[in-house]
Amino acid sequence: MGEDPASQVYVRNKEIACEACGIYSEKYALPEETTQEELLSLIDTLNKKSSISGILVQLPVPKHIDEETIINAIDPKKDVDAFHPINVGKIMVGNYDFVPCTPAGVMELIKESGIDVSGKECVVVGRSNIVGKPQAMLLLHQNGTVTICHSRTKNLAEKTRNADILVAAVGIPNFIKGDMIKEGAVVIDVGINRMENGKLCGDVEFETAEKVADAITPVPGGVGPMTIAMLMRNTVKAAIVNN
Ligand code: GUN
Repeated sequence: MGEDPASQVYVRNKEIACEACGIYSEKYALPEETTQEELLSLIDTLNKKSSISGILVQLPVPKHIDEETIINAIDPKKDVDAFHPINVGKIMVGNYDFVPCTPAGVMELIKESGIDVSGKECVVVGRSNIVGKPQAMLLLHQNGTVTICHSRTKNLAEKTRNADILVAAVGIPNFIKGDMIKEGAVVIDVGINRMENGKLCGDVEFETAEKVADAITPVPGGVGPMTIAMLMRNTVKAAIVNN
């Protein structure tokens, strides 16, 4: 909904990924002034439409729309973002079909890099419902020792310097500097921030961080493409679950 430029790029990238995978997709670019009732009515139609396996409402939604009401309206079986409370609860318990795309992408990067999470000190900076909280649960399921840090955390650098695996998801450009990272750590940067010069940067100051980290993800080109890949995976799962 609306004209958010970043959202438009993300949605376009998701469309392109669907085309590349051979997944049929429909895009509804709703004007900013669309009412909540109209949006709920569209979700209801798509919930009932048998040719649609997965539904995603790109966030953020405009201010006059209640995000929670929208998320709750999506059929949990079609909730490829895994934002519905039923899917959030399943992740908590550890028995789930869908994993939120960004944390799932982070886990896949860790796995494919041959990094064992078990017993490691894992520090997640950020506690959003989309990234921080589910990220912590996924690391915990892999037997990591998990600390969640946020804006009220005291002595943040002390906590981050303890991390064998550090996930930055705060949304503040270059927030994590090299001197906040332990020598040999694995650093995963979830941030996508647009700077005044128009360039994208992460939550980690790459130039100083790469000198101390053993492995680090770039922005752009790190977690972002993984997020979309995980959306495709969730959609395929949805197609299986719904049939
Ligand atoms: N906005 C930022 N990240 C996301 C995401 O993972 N899913 C949706 N639907 N909106 C987002």
